[in-house]
Amino acid sequence: MYPVVVLVLGLSCLLLFSVWRQNSGRRKLPPGPTPFPIIGNILQLDIKDITKSLTGFSKAYGPVFTLYFGMKPTVVLYGYEAVKEALIDHGEEFSGRGRFPLSEKFAKDHGIVFSNGHRWKEMRRFALRTLRNFGMGKRSIEDRVQEEACCLVEELKKTNGSPCDPTFILGCAPCNVICSVVFQNRFDYKDKNLLNLMEKLNENVQILSSPWIQIYNLFHDLIDYVPGSHNTVMKNIDYIKSYILKKVKDHEESLDVNNPRDLIDCFLIKMKQEQENQKESLEFTYENLTVVALDLFGAGTETTSTTLRYGLLLLMKHPHVTAKMKEEINHVIGRHRISCMQDRSQMPYTDAVIHEIQRYIDLVPMNLPHAVTRDIKFRDYIIPKGTTIMTSLTSVLHDHKEFPNPEMFDPGHFLDKSGNFKKSDYFMPFSSGKRVCAGEGLARMELFLFLTTILQNFNLKSIVDPQNLDITPVLNGFISVPPSYQLCFVPV
Ligand code: HEM
Ligand SMILES: *[C@@H]1O[C@H](CO)[C@@H](O)[C@H](O)[C@H]1NC(C)=O
Repeated sequence: MYPVVVLVLGLSCLLLFSVWRQNSGRRKLPPGPTPFPIIGNILQLDIKDITKSLTGFSKAYGPVFTLYFGMKPTVVLYGYEAVKEALIDHGEEFSGRGRFPLSEKFAKDHGIVFSNGHRWKEMRRFALRTLRNFGMGKRSIEDRVQEEACCLVEELKKTNGSPCDPTFILGCAPCNVICSVVFQNRFDYKDKNLLNLMEKLNENVQILSSPWIQIYNLFHDLIDYVPGSHNTVMKNIDYIKSYILKKVKDHEESLDVNNPRDLIDCFLIKMKQEQENQKESLEFTYENLTVVALDLFGAGTETTSTTLRYGLLLLMKHPHVTAKMKEEINHVIGRHRISCMQDRSQMPYTDAVIHEIQRYIDLVPMNLPHAVTRDIKFRDYIIPKGTTIMTSLTSVLHDHKEFPNPEMFDPGHFLDKSGNFKKSDYFMPFSSGKRVCAGEGLARMELFLFLTTILQNFNLKSIVDPQNLDITPVLNGFISVPPSYQLCFVPV
């Protein structure tokens, strides 16, 4: 009997404590549905369609509301006004990164994506400077992406116009671009180094988007020591890190400080400068370098390849859009040279199509979690330092007033009456403010150069009537992905 009594008593205390904790902070936080002890609002959410749940809550509680994922409150911002007010008008205060227990384990607050404060600023500044077109010495980023675009076309030609699932090939190209930026060279699509890297990255994406990990993130204290798929995630990360470190050693031997070849060289040069200046605390260490490189692979591969894959599906579904885009490509670029970024300003229709692809697919519907860096008064509420902030990018990208018929794919959303490109402040697929995607420039370059080069060289042929193609997104953890499909790349 005795152990049962202890157990019941213990659980009741835990319950009381959690109720007390939830209530003590709730008064000044934005309103929201009443949380259950320990599990919070989990049961009130449709985990399969969180966006729909958020829309429902915003109707009941307004554009700023509080949800409890487990015992911790998360403030949700819904709609352009609230998102802009936080990320732009109060940019500094909302620039913190929300906590993921798992990320704390592997990034240990290093790198860019999961770090905070001074470290985040230093590493982000370094990455942004290096990712500028001529940030890495003589060879521009554009040059590297163009090289990959040519290889991508060659690889697609090998399919001989027969039906294929483009997931693998469209995954290689963005990963190779990061390889070229970080390691100087791209790899052949059959190279074991590239395949291993992609395999580990893919496996992590699979695991991180599983329900198991959501549970882990809520209750990690309890199950930290249980073996499970989160251990595989760590193993994969260790593999990638040690591969990066091996490359770093090779780079050190051939380093020429006057001719940086890639991001690793730029980082090593920073390291040297720091040592010469005898600064007390070293910011540029091997550990920091590997995590920054890892961040670029993690943030820059799956995002871009999913956008490309979804983009081709949408182009197949809308042949008249594709035809107009091809016409513009033919007119501005022609058949005999590869496209370059300068072409974009003369290609308003293509520019609008690519914007519309990103708007329509709404790749990261709830953004990555932010956190407030200090206690802040926001509208009529007090949000305590460290509170997780979730911003609904869906509510901005699918705004009814800014984009009439937001659920329709229509490049007209980004064109004015005379066919000129029309900018929109609501275009936030990369988020906005101080945490805005650090790879935005690179990603947009890849989307433009890859998509124009593909259409310049191929007709996309669907194996079913385009009208019957399913284009409904599937939410996969943090990102929405297209249903799987097949197509033929028929050389023009
Ligand atoms: C279509 C492609 C991409 C999309 C839609 C995208 C979207 C995003 C979004 C929504 C965030 C979170 C921003 C926030 O917290 O407010 C983010 C962060 C980030 N992205 Fe991207 N991204 C893309 C491609 C890339 C690429 C190619 C790279 C690498 C060069 C990259 C590197 C990063 C990094 C380093 C961060 C963390 C920034 C920070 O925390 O300061 N992304 N991205
Ligand atoms: C780099 O790493 C060291 C420890 O390895 C740490 O003390 C320092 O804060 C880090 N700097 C940045 C900018 O991440």
